[in-house]
Amino acid sequence: MYYPYQITSMQQYQEAYKKSIEDPEGFWGAIAENFFWRKKWDKVLQWNFSEPKTEWFINAKLNITENCIDRHLATMADKPAIIWEPNNPEERTRTVTYARLHKRVCQFAQVLKNNGVKKGDRVCIYMGMVPELAYAVLGCARIGAIHSVVFGGFSAQSIADRLEDANVEYIVTCDGAYRGAKDIPLKSIIDDALIGNKTVKRVIVYTRTRTPISMIKGRDVWWEDEMLYAEEQLEKNGTLDFPAQEMDAEDPLFILYTSGSTGKPKGVVHSSAGYMLWTNYTFVNVFQYKPGDVFFCTADIGWITGHSYIVYGPLSAGATSLMFEGIPTWPDAGRFWDIVDKYKVNTLYTAPTAIRSLMSYGLDPIKGKDLSSLKVLGTVGEPINEEAWHWYDENIGKKKCPIVDTWWQTETGGILISNFAGITPSRPGWATLPMPGVQPLLLNEHGTPANDPEGENIASGNLCMAAPWPGIFRTTYGDHERYKSNYFAAYPGLYFTGDGALKDAEGFYRITGRVDDVLNVSGHRIGTAEVENAINMHAGVVESAVVGFPHDVKGQGIYAYVIMSHKHGDDEQSKKDILQTVTRVIGSIAKPDKIQFVNGLPKTRSGKIMRRILRKIAEGETKNLGDTTTLLDPGVVDEIQQGKL
Ligand code: PRX
Repeated sequence: MYYPYQITSMQQYQEAYKKSIEDPEGFWGAIAENFFWRKKWDKVLQWNFSEPKTEWFINAKLNITENCIDRHLATMADKPAIIWEPNNPEERTRTVTYARLHKRVCQFAQVLKNNGVKKGDRVCIYMGMVPELAYAVLGCARIGAIHSVVFGGFSAQSIADRLEDANVEYIVTCDGAYRGAKDIPLKSIIDDALIGNKTVKRVIVYTRTRTPISMIKGRDVWWEDEMLYAEEQLEKNGTLDFPAQEMDAEDPLFILYTSGSTGKPKGVVHSSAGYMLWTNYTFVNVFQYKPGDVFFCTADIGWITGHSYIVYGPLSAGATSLMFEGIPTWPDAGRFWDIVDKYKVNTLYTAPTAIRSLMSYGLDPIKGKDLSSLKVLGTVGEPINEEAWHWYDENIGKKKCPIVDTWWQTETGGILISNFAGITPSRPGWATLPMPGVQPLLLNEHGTPANDPEGENIASGNLCMAAPWPGIFRTTYGDHERYKSNYFAAYPGLYFTGDGALKDAEGFYRITGRVDDVLNVSGHRIGTAEVENAINMHAGVVESAVVGFPHDVKGQGIYAYVIMSHKHGDDEQSKKDILQTVTRVIGSIAKPDKIQFVNGLPKTRSGKIMRRILRKIAEGETKNLGDTTTLLDPGVVDEIQQGKL
């Protein structure tokens, strides 16, 4: 496959950027010509951020799986689409060619049809990182169902909330998942999530761990039986093809829940055509993918990074995507390097938290591993500190591989700000330049532009976007008002990202982190209000306040200040009970790193918790806590400071 829109010089980047701003319709229309459409568009773009509404490729028809699979079959049927590395390095690996992927996705689409799934239905997918997860995602896309993948680390309660929010009728899961030395009992978590649920009609269960599970007659079916039956049906038709559902460009492709500053996760909705273009374009350009390269994104498909850069971006580009079931530190901290060596990986795309964690093991795990196949390194999910950047550059890239620092969000669908590997300049800690079509603006809190450096050379402000790119999310599921109030109200007419950033005189951006009450723990977004809600559900808790603090490996850790009415047992036991409660309500990813019991929280006279003060204390600041005169009871601050962990 050849990418005529792959940018190969700084000058080309500048020209493309200019054209994309002056004539977005001409620019994206020309790129869209490189995809397979059932019917072309009447108009490229219609938008209005005040409403807010964005539509790309109006009235075009397509199916994303025809772009990710079918169109590659003529020339690349035997090329690997997915290479799968199991959790246990002793277990057999699997290579899924484009022809095999086509067969399996068609079979699974037939399975969905047999089980009653129709276009527009929501299907929740809760699986480990097995190739069948990719088949399930693409099977949904083929039949036009909307997938909602839930990461395997979320609890039954979190799944139940997501099932209810999207009125889900179908679930695809596994008996269990392997992650390092642990087995996660996915099906039994689903069973718990379904207690009291009235909408789910069918649960399709793939066998991975062969953990004993309950299978409820009339509701639960085995993946393997269903796939065999579907294969027979397709064979009877004389073709193994399951005709792809024709989708409108703007039909929703998937929902992915993410945390915001309120207690309830939001269902971010992405469309078919715009998302496809965006993941493909950014994949091809940022990573400078060349046909035949092995691309290894270490994320889980339960997060947006896995959706966009394990599944849709690489497959739409006819790439070879490496999918890894396990974790970087099992059986030992050399696992990533073993994988790079074994499959001659060309691009490694991972999170700063993984780099920092692997750094802590020293250089021994790298010794004897051949990393010479690597050409490009990438990071995503949180700001990368310079120490980790240099370690990655020196020890993994051997100073020969450009590092792309890719800034984006669940909402943006794909990368918005990043250097292009080896094409545009890189700078440690800086995401650098916007993609073509992306128009960042820095505003201060009063809404006036902060992006004119005026001799200072560095501007600092809240990061907004002035216009839509094809991959922007279209709504929050079932609640368009929330879409508006969360993202388009703070700065009318602009999309507000929730991040702060710096911009220098060359126009390079450095992302400084969230400016709202959202934490970034190990590259995962967690709302403080969500964690507080979970803690407050514990029987002895009166009130709590959660803030972030700097953490060597995770980037940010979770610090909880908790007021208890009564404790059962000593402080340590009570803390364990609270952790257990949070694990039940959200999942282990939201467990606080530190819990401090307090008698009061710093509040203003109107009852608002002054988080700024709590944040400073958690960060270890002892003196400059800022103005505390507006507090109802300034005395609580001393007490909290004395008890700091
Ligand atoms: O704060 C930014 C941070 O991660 C947030 C988005 O989180 P999520 O939707 O879970 O998506 C993560 C994967 C795209 C952003 O608002 N973030 C993401 N990438 C970077 C980053 N912060 C700094 N540098 C990055 N490269």
